[in-house]
Amino acid sequence: MHWSPSPLAPTIPRTDPPPVHRERRRAPRAPRAPLPSLVARLAQLGNILRPTPHVPLAVEGLQLFAKLEYVNPVGSIKDRPAFWILKRAAERGEICDETTVIESSSGNFASALAAFTRLVGLRFIPVIDPNISATYESFLRRTCDTVVKVEERDNTGGFLKTRLQMVQQLCASTPHAYWPNQYANPDAVDAHYHLTAGDICAGFDSLDYVFIGVSTGGTIAGMSRRLKERYPKVRIIAVDTEGSVIFGDAPGKRHIPGVGSSIVPPLVSEALIDDVVLIPERETVAACRELLVTHGLFAGGSSGTAFAAVKRYTPRMARSKGSAPTVLFVCADRGTPYLDTVFDPTWANRLLTPDS
Ligand SMILES: Cc1ncc(COP(=O)(O)O)c(C=O)c1O
Repeated sequence: MHWSPSPLAPTIPRTDPPPVHRERRRAPRAPRAPLPSLVARLAQLGNILRPTPHVPLAVEGLQLFAKLEYVNPVGSIKDRPAFWILKRAAERGEICDETTVIESSSGNFASALAAFTRLVGLRFIPVIDPNISATYESFLRRTCDTVVKVEERDNTGGFLKTRLQMVQQLCASTPHAYWPNQYANPDAVDAHYHLTAGDICAGFDSLDYVFIGVSTGGTIAGMSRRLKERYPKVRIIAVDTEGSVIFGDAPGKRHIPGVGSSIVPPLVSEALIDDVVLIPERETVAACRELLVTHGLFAGGSSGTAFAAVKRYTPRMARSKGSAPTVLFVCADRGTPYLDTVFDPTWANRLLTPDS
């Protein structure tokens, strides 16, 4: 899908045509069709967000399914909120053709915004930090004209606050700037309510347990609300990493992105959560490898974390009407960006070393 003229295309200077004899003048060109409105372009973009598959895994005692969100067009579950936030902002008139979208993200959300803003002809400036994976950085640099990389750590030793300060500065100095603010935007919740959970409702007659990795909380807030409407007895299990403070664990060093947070994100309070499972990162690594070598799924860190939580929780899962419970876990992204970490034995061995 491509609309022309794109603001990213080089501007060709207009020159007046040389004077010509009236009778030899060419017929005037048909006027160029006006660009569809931003709302219409975004509505058309919605057509590429197709339902994602769920696949069965052979695990004893469970009817276990993986929801493959990495089949989304840009490669992760974050395609859904990125699309929905832009669409709703356009519908409300908060963004227009002159808008520059500015967001702090070092991964899937930035990649989705980069692709979608490009497709509808908006500018996007991602604000990233040195911890970004090389795969994401290359993608963003090839997709966006401007990428801002902060280098200074904040007072917690991380980069989140520095990145957010940079977003504020850029928003103040850029005309028609728009900050999606994925940590607090209710449209992120609605995206998962309508799209992600909508898909699941269309695919399952019943569900007993659903395991969802948490970072900003948007996924679990939207999915839990819709799934509990459709399956009143379903139990929603939040999955987090040890060292993440979201569910009250003591803050600790974390190395695998996508799941966990060093702040308690406001969207989590909107989620309907029945239980929480905290997974140590070494278990995430083992689960990611098991997904690949035993089940043929090459999935990222939060998918492994969710699968590890299913395995831990299995003894506590009740049989449903005498048969194995139907269980779903979310595979939020693919393994590729984790090749140098989770899937690298040297890196993984360092994780097992205390004080690594
Ligand atoms: C790979 C991956 N899994 C899970 C999540 C968690 O989703 P949410 O931020 O909606 O809680 C994210 C969020 O960035 C992610 O990138």
